[in-house]
Amino acid sequence: ANITFDNVIYSSNNFSKNGYSTNISGKETIPDNKTAQFIKFDDMIEEGRKVAQRSYVVQVNSENSCIELHDYCQSICTVENMFYYRVKDDHFVLVEFSNSEAAHKLSFDPNNLAVVSPFIWFRTGKKKKLVPSSVNVSPLINISQGPTELEIIEWMTVAQSLLDEMEILYQSTKLSQLGFKLRMICARQVEMMLSGLFPNIRAFPFGSTVNSFGKEGCDLDLVLRYNFSQENSDDLRLVHHSKINGISSRGQTQRQMELLGDLLQIYVPGVIGVKRILGARVPIIKYSHEFTGVDVDISLTNMSAMYMSELLYIFAHLDPAAQRLVFSIKAWAKVVGLTNPSPGRWITNFSLTLLVLFYLQNERRLPSIDDLFKLAGPNDTRYAEEINCSFIRDLRNVRLELDHSKTTAELLLGFFNFYQNFDFNNKAISLCSAKIINKLDYSPMYIVNPLDRNLNVTKNVSLEEVERIRVEARNAAWALETSSRLVDLFRSSPESLMSKRKYISRMVMVKDLFQT
Ligand code: CTP
Ligand code: MG
Repeated sequence: ANITFDNVIYSSNNFSKNGYSTNISGKETIPDNKTAQFIKFDDMIEEGRKVAQRSYVVQVNSENSCIELHDYCQSICTVENMFYYRVKDDHFVLVEFSNSEAAHKLSFDPNNLAVVSPFIWFRTGKKKKLVPSSVNVSPLINISQGPTELEIIEWMTVAQSLLDEMEILYQSTKLSQLGFKLRMICARQVEMMLSGLFPNIRAFPFGSTVNSFGKEGCDLDLVLRYNFSQENSDDLRLVHHSKINGISSRGQTQRQMELLGDLLQIYVPGVIGVKRILGARVPIIKYSHEFTGVDVDISLTNMSAMYMSELLYIFAHLDPAAQRLVFSIKAWAKVVGLTNPSPGRWITNFSLTLLVLFYLQNERRLPSIDDLFKLAGPNDTRYAEEINCSFIRDLRNVRLELDHSKTTAELLLGFFNFYQNFDFNNKAISLCSAKIINKLDYSPMYIVNPLDRNLNVTKNVSLEEVERIRVEARNAAWALETSSRLVDLFRSSPESLMSKRKYISRMVMVKDLFQT
């Protein structure tokens, strides 16, 4: 069998996507733990910001406009990359120029502009004969037509081993390069809108966009902060008056958020469906971006969540099995109905990720967070909302005693066995000490917040849901032991008839596909 979709090719022994390619042969193919080549979280984001500063998203009539757009842009400034994509019936090209100054020249006439934004459109020009150029519109990714669940299941069904299935699931559903770039441009748009009034404002991305566990289509979490210089200029005697001293009361924050919501709704191109959720522990503004298809959440006071994302990023780089395992567990949880897109009494993807990381700590594949705190150097000191977030940030040259002898496939079964037997009634999970500890209150599930240690990340989860997690983990372990196939987990639950029925219809189709 040989399946090609988009730029993804899967045959019985080869699979490639987005430049990643591997021979899938039942052997562990994931890279070794190469911390020597580690890119620091801040550097990764800074690089993404820089690229976003020389990028524009151009709406075009159709795919056929790519070459004309390329030639037009190229006549003004060198084009480094173009990515074509669609959101529903609209066509867009992400254009990356070689430098930001030249890019500014071409994008707009600043004297005729109400709001500055990286989203523009390509007006039909005077007809002239175009010399065909060797345009490199690559990779031609179509967001609205990324692999469907059905296609991914099909690929997994013809894979030769559980390991291959996990690899396929990970490679075909992780956040793509284009997805990351578009999210960085959305962040830049918010900064551009506000920078006239607030020259030092920065929109920091956090959550699954940057923590290495993001799926294609994940939301964009942003926290807005002033990026004041750390240097004190005591010699300067003329100091600007300011109504803002850096610390706002909850009431002030809510008013600022309301104002931000209005600005976004009234002035910012592409922003639709603005919702203000101001009563939550962390007040947020939500909106959708119609030119990128991305859902955005903005907060003003959530820097510790950004450091949390950095912590997850570090864990992802300390154990290359972590991402594959998290993707498999999240997919399983979704199919058997343990997670739900709307918030409620069920477990979230973030909490599930912490369950996986704790299990990996328990297997001695990951260090405790206390260990990462102990390794912190002088440049690692960070505080957010008075919480100490000072852990080691540069993994290069760090030596940790970790045992990576088990395969990712063995870990999958290990995860289910670990949690089907877990005493959620009496015990809590602490990634800080990497130990099971006694519960600190009567919440049905207790995971100590790795940074704000007074909080329980899974406070929302009900007793009934905890029981379901254990039952589903038991079903999954049983299914895996019987068949050693990941796709079989997707029908493990007797309760989730829906998914079972869906699974059966998929299997019929998959069989048809490969018998012809
Ligand atoms: N977060 C946290 N404590 C919580 C919930 C969230 O610190 N109780 C932080 C985490 O850093 C998390 C981020 O807020 O990654 C964003 O939360 P959310 O959007 O719910 O989760 P994501 O990790 O982004 O996953 P998803 O793809 O489901 O959005
Ligand atoms: Mg998120």
